[in-house]
Amino acid sequence: MRISVIGCGYLGAVHAAAMASLGHDVVGIDVDEDRVRALAEGVSPIFEPGLPEALREGIAAGRLRFSSEMSDAAAADVHFVAVGTPQLAHGAGADVSYVDAAFAALREHLRPGALVVGKSTVPVGTAARLAEGLAGAGARLIWNPEFLREGRAIRDTVAPDRLVYGVSPAGDDGVATLDEVYAPLVARGTPRLVTDYATAELVKTAANAFLATKISFINAMADVAEATGADVTTLADAIGHDARIGRKFLNAGVGFGGGCLPKDIRAFVARAEELGLGDSLAFLKEVDRINLRRRERLVDLVVDSFEGEPAGRRVAVLGLAFKPESDDIRDSPALDVAVRLRGLGAKVRCYDPEAMPNARRMHPQLKYAATAEHALRDAEAVVLVTEWREFREMDPAGAFGIVSRPVMIDGRNALDAEAWRAAGWAYAGMGRP
Ligand code: UGA
Repeated sequence: MRISVIGCGYLGAVHAAAMASLGHDVVGIDVDEDRVRALAEGVSPIFEPGLPEALREGIAAGRLRFSSEMSDAAAADVHFVAVGTPQLAHGAGADVSYVDAAFAALREHLRPGALVVGKSTVPVGTAARLAEGLAGAGARLIWNPEFLREGRAIRDTVAPDRLVYGVSPAGDDGVATLDEVYAPLVARGTPRLVTDYATAELVKTAANAFLATKISFINAMADVAEATGADVTTLADAIGHDARIGRKFLNAGVGFGGGCLPKDIRAFVARAEELGLGDSLAFLKEVDRINLRRRERLVDLVVDSFEGEPAGRRVAVLGLAFKPESDDIRDSPALDVAVRLRGLGAKVRCYDPEAMPNARRMHPQLKYAATAEHALRDAEAVVLVTEWREFREMDPAGAFGIVSRPVMIDGRNALDAEAWRAAGWAYAGMGRP
């Protein structure tokens, strides 16, 4: 099928490459000409395992190209809109101006009967409004939220755990076309739910809100564990055995960040307040607050290790990305912790396997080490904030010989506490004795 993907950021670049890998003829459209040029050469704008390969394969097969001209989308039968909806600069709500602009520009180039598929995360009610705008152009709209995780984005796109199609009240017009786009996924029996627009929009927001709540729940338990001498990791293991609870997303630590969970819960609260339902979602404000307190807590652990006097002390910060297998530093707890420690006068040296170029652009004042070993050299405290495999597999005995004071503060509870202590380290996790 001929497909266009409007917006080639995280979501769109991955979606375009993934659709080409399914055998479709895909054009990715983005207003950023530098990004378009790079993508056209098979250069991924982000660190995402498998994406460069998928881009190069699609381009070499002649099934994938990129353009900054919306008119190049005109020939497509199906248009995916995948532009970002960041948090408003002055407010908690989502900024849908990129979505509005994409729809307005696309409308000029739609062929009668074309199918537009919204993938961006939008406040509930947006799809119905956008559908009205498309009606005059003779195009149909399906809202088809995306659930991909960074670091596993290609896999999540071609093998999602469910497909959600939000269709217009007029009926399921376009469902067969979208099924054809996702034919291999549908053939594999991927659960597919056809809903109204509002439900489809809410599925996405509710899923992220639930995941954020799960993380803040276990982090609240970490506070209690810390005060009572209990171990939150064992607690998570034990409650996670209950299939109704499940162990996933119960890793306590410095909390969640990234371009999705934090802004999505804030936008959800803002939308609920607009709908007069502020009380119903007020708990998400607490979820946000619990999460942000984790960063303070981790900084406190470092400060405590220096008896309250961190100024001038050498601290190694391992990790800057909001999670491993990503170079994304949007709302990254790791970067926040590094910046706060520096603000307290500590001599911070950071290292991240992939996120340093992004971090350096945003925070040129921080010191960056070429390797983890370099970051550790003569450090008086080491803070692990993003659990890259490289850090999880670090040899405590080897690391002991590099630092000047063996203090390990594990902001992700990612290390084997006993092994580190046995190697002579003072080890502190979060919510662990
Ligand atoms: C999240 C959702 O998981 C995806 O399903 C969704 O499609 C995506 O947002 C989106 O809306 O686009 P992502 O932001 O890639 O995906 O990251 P997650 O894997 O959800 O992790 C989010 C944060 O939670 C990370 O900072 C991670 O370190 C933290 N986390 C995760 C914990 O602190 N504890 C856990 O147990 C799990």
